[in-house]
Amino acid sequence: MMEFRTRAIHIGNERDPQTGAVVPPIYLSTTFVQPGAGQWGEYDYSRSGNPTRRAFETTLASLEEGTGALAFASGMAATHCVTMLLRAGDHIVAGSDIYGGTYRLLHKIVSRSGIDVSLAPSHDLTQLSGAFRPNTRLVWIESPGNPLMSITDIAACAELAHRNGALLAVDSTFATPVVTRPLQLGADIVMHSVTKYLAGHSDALGGAIVVRDRKLYDDLYFIQNATGAVLGPFESFLASRGLKTLELRVREQCTTAQRLADWLQNDSRVRQVLYPGLPQHPGHEIAKRQMDGRFGAMLTFEVAGDFEKTKRVAEATKLFQLAVSLGAVESLIEQPASMSHASYDPKDRAAHGISDGLIRLSVGLEAFEDLRDDLDQALNA
Ligand SMILES: Cc1ncc(COP(=O)(O)O)c(C=O)c1O
Repeated sequence: MMEFRTRAIHIGNERDPQTGAVVPPIYLSTTFVQPGAGQWGEYDYSRSGNPTRRAFETTLASLEEGTGALAFASGMAATHCVTMLLRAGDHIVAGSDIYGGTYRLLHKIVSRSGIDVSLAPSHDLTQLSGAFRPNTRLVWIESPGNPLMSITDIAACAELAHRNGALLAVDSTFATPVVTRPLQLGADIVMHSVTKYLAGHSDALGGAIVVRDRKLYDDLYFIQNATGAVLGPFESFLASRGLKTLELRVREQCTTAQRLADWLQNDSRVRQVLYPGLPQHPGHEIAKRQMDGRFGAMLTFEVAGDFEKTKRVAEATKLFQLAVSLGAVESLIEQPASMSHASYDPKDRAAHGISDGLIRLSVGLEAFEDLRDDLDQALNA
């Protein structure tokens, strides 16, 4: 198998056979001529399959070392597709350190179909296994978790899920396949908000799932085609372009995040730094083996101060822009309690340690020195 960054450029991006174009064209056509009535070619209708979307799916499947990928209009559409594998009476165990929108989808939409949801800290396997019921069919986790950067042992979690007759799905948006490949660790499904690192430039919304098992792929494809939240050709093109530089971007962003974490943890204006690259992080040893020795470019810290002080710090940075989302070339800052995790029930937020003093950073590609100076002046706000 070719190296990751070679596959990112060459798999799924074969030159256009008709013109020799090195960058394949964007196929906007919604419909495709059929060889005969009732006969089907490779493509017939763009909801069912589109060459530009297929190119992105092919590259991503290769990078995640899966057999097939499906691309969606957003990360939430991808997650929703996975939940539609379940039926009334089934039960989902979800990690408690997950994206607020996933929490909302599970509790406010999926639950309407008679599917129960329990939250448990997925980094603690004892507590996680206590949340299983005889009807548990799906385990949903993030590692690193959002926003507390908890690290879940994916291989152990896969073993636990399978022993209980459930599938393991990993939202790997924070890690990216540069750093962690959950399918190789035993997970059944990898999900991405393509909006983040994969596309990488804050200019395309998208989602994806990748699987190893062909039958599971067929089931998910059936749901995707039947429900229709597919990724459009323009976004598919942007996502494919993003993948070509994914490894270079993520490596560099991880290095800067590690340097910022090292700097912040020695600062008296900061109560604690949550970053798996710090030796005192409880998940550091698992992260070392699960994340290829890189620890991601997301980091969270707790300001020594109350909600208002935290808000002031988040509002005072100039390079770090105050915005939700993450994973792009520009650095972003946010306060989870009032932004990315505002859709959590406040009681669940408190119970799971998402305190008002937390600030989450998405570290971009700017120079470390400039980002450090920006945080330094903001912490004085
Ligand atoms: C970890 C994680 N998962 C899923 C999503 C949802 O993705 P999208 O916004 O593309 O629907 C997000 C978005 O912020 C996220 O951060």
